[in-house]
Amino acid sequence: MAAAPERESWRPEVIPGRLVVLRRHRAENLRAFTRWYADHDVARLTRYQVSPLSNDEVQRFFYARIMGSEFLAMAIHVRDTDRLIGTCAFSQLDGDHGSTLYHITVGERDAWGKGYGTEATELMLAHAFTRLALHRVALTVFEFNSRAIRSYEKCGFVVEGRARQAIFRDGQFWDEIHMSILADEWETRVRRS
Ligand SMILES: CC(C)(COP(=O)(O)OP(=O)(O)OC[C@H]1O[C@@H](n2cnc3c(N)ncnc32)[C@H](O)[C@@H]1OP(=O)(O)O)[C@@H](O)C(=O)NCCC(=O)NCCS
Repeated sequence: MAAAPERESWRPEVIPGRLVVLRRHRAENLRAFTRWYADHDVARLTRYQVSPLSNDEVQRFFYARIMGSEFLAMAIHVRDTDRLIGTCAFSQLDGDHGSTLYHITVGERDAWGKGYGTEATELMLAHAFTRLALHRVALTVFEFNSRAIRSYEKCGFVVEGRARQAIFRDGQFWDEIHMSILADEWETRVRRS
């Protein structure tokens, strides 16, 4: 692996894309976070618990992780309007093994299904495999979250395992699917495209 990049390039101010721009989070984004994580559909798609996060929980999560050093978190803005629509992040960044876990929530429902989340993930993968020189990016997703699974597949993630019937939702058990992409797989995709 390459030497650790300087902090500024490790946690950039801006990562520009075609549809979206990723920006570092600012303290005022807490208001949007509080709204997103109070949404039952967002909770249903992203949490084991069926209830949304309380305001206190969102605040703790936001300051400790999103604004803190534990996550490499970026805000997702629509490029044309600069509207804040969501958040994406790496957690458990492990320099020894070159691996990390990926998370994304487009919190504004009217921004789902427009390719914004998929492009945000592509931008984060490019950052992971170039600037951060990582070897592997992994994630977990609930089996019933078809849009997210499709989005991750479009970015090159492959299913590597499943925790069978790990979550009971909407009256039945579902698997938690484990997906990942490796640096050489990402490079092959980029060369092809
Ligand atoms: C999951 C998420 C990041 C996907 O980003 P997105 O920008 O909405 O995704 P896209 O618009 O690129 O759509 C991805 C694919 O899903 C398909 N899709 C859209 N809506 C769908 C739906 N309701 N069911 C199944 N597939 C759907 C799209 O057609 C597209 O596939 P295609 O290009 O082959 O047609 C975003 O929707 C989101 O954050 N949702 C809420 C929180 C969440 O689920 N987070 C992930 C937790 S693991």
